[in-house]
Amino acid sequence: MRPARALIDLQALRHNYQLAREVTGAKALAVVKADAYGHGAVRVAQALEAEADGFAVACIEEALELRAAGIRAPVLLLEGFFEADELPLIIEHDFWCVVHSLWQLEAIEHARLSKPLTVWLKLDSGMHRVGLHPKDYHEAYQRLLASGKVAKIVLMSHFARADELDCVRSNEQVAVFEAARQGLSAEVSLRNSPSVMGWPSVSSDWVRPGIMLYGATPFGEDQAIAARLQPVMTLESKVISVRELPAGEPVGYGAKFITPKPMRIGVVAMGYADGYPRHAPTGTPVLVAGQRSQLLGRVSMDMLCVDLTDVPQAGLGSTVELWGKNILASDVAAAAETIPYQIFCNLRRVPRLYSGA
Ligand SMILES: Cc1ncc(COP(=O)(O)O)c(C=O)c1O
Repeated sequence: MRPARALIDLQALRHNYQLAREVTGAKALAVVKADAYGHGAVRVAQALEAEADGFAVACIEEALELRAAGIRAPVLLLEGFFEADELPLIIEHDFWCVVHSLWQLEAIEHARLSKPLTVWLKLDSGMHRVGLHPKDYHEAYQRLLASGKVAKIVLMSHFARADELDCVRSNEQVAVFEAARQGLSAEVSLRNSPSVMGWPSVSSDWVRPGIMLYGATPFGEDQAIAARLQPVMTLESKVISVRELPAGEPVGYGAKFITPKPMRIGVVAMGYADGYPRHAPTGTPVLVAGQRSQLLGRVSMDMLCVDLTDVPQAGLGSTVELWGKNILASDVAAAAETIPYQIFCNLRRVPRLYSGA
């Protein structure tokens, strides 16, 4: 059997969830959209359900998958409904629903609902993606109340630059949010992972951690809480072939790496078809037989090459960690000029093996 696999440590996941709660003292919706950032939404939700205050997903299809697996906890649809005809299903399954646009508000006003909805009313406080304009916020809140179709409203917004610790934009967004919600007495939800980890002064009854649950930092720099996260996913495989090459020999597609000296090279069963980033360059860290080494040359679809020259204990069958507890996914992502969010979400083909359930 091909040795590529992703080991998912559910105990680490629970640790990270508890950390988000501990550092904020808030209720936490575990963000499990996009198949829990590649970790498997159902298994992740099952592992957290006993303690989680709820879950957040991108769309009703993802929410229904959780209900079908028996998850009974609250599930928030982060973009609400895409079409008004989703409303009966939202009611039937007790999903919580973001309202980010006036057309959604109107759809609720016109809908016949058998039960009242829980709405998270989203303000565009400066990210300019989705969310109501501040001038419309109060009126939208009052219209939802007046519709008689809403049982509870939570006031929410989302940060665009909370992963930049020296940037004032998050403070500006908080100021816009505070001004827009003046006079409204309702719970508040502002904080995603970077805000949970890096912006302790932001108050938020509900937090919405995603990437930190999976043990990866959204920050490009060192940051105190990042050191307390436990990586959840270990992507590993094995060396399936070993080459001894003299100096001056090309390695892999496009001859992107030429041996500068005699080298020992290991071929690993892992490639971009598994989600390993094709743009990871020579020098991207890997762990081979317990020792740090580096990627060499271009990543192929099913294989990649690593340097065994100074890893004498490594050979055929040696285990290679591509990311995990030793090689941080955020470091691999940075080397490939992307973010850990994307490399997790790109995971495919490799079986996921769970522990710590
Ligand atoms: C509205 C909202 N809240 C929370 C999150 C979780 O963000 P993070 O993974 O940075 O914690 C996301 C993710 O994109 C989001 O869109």
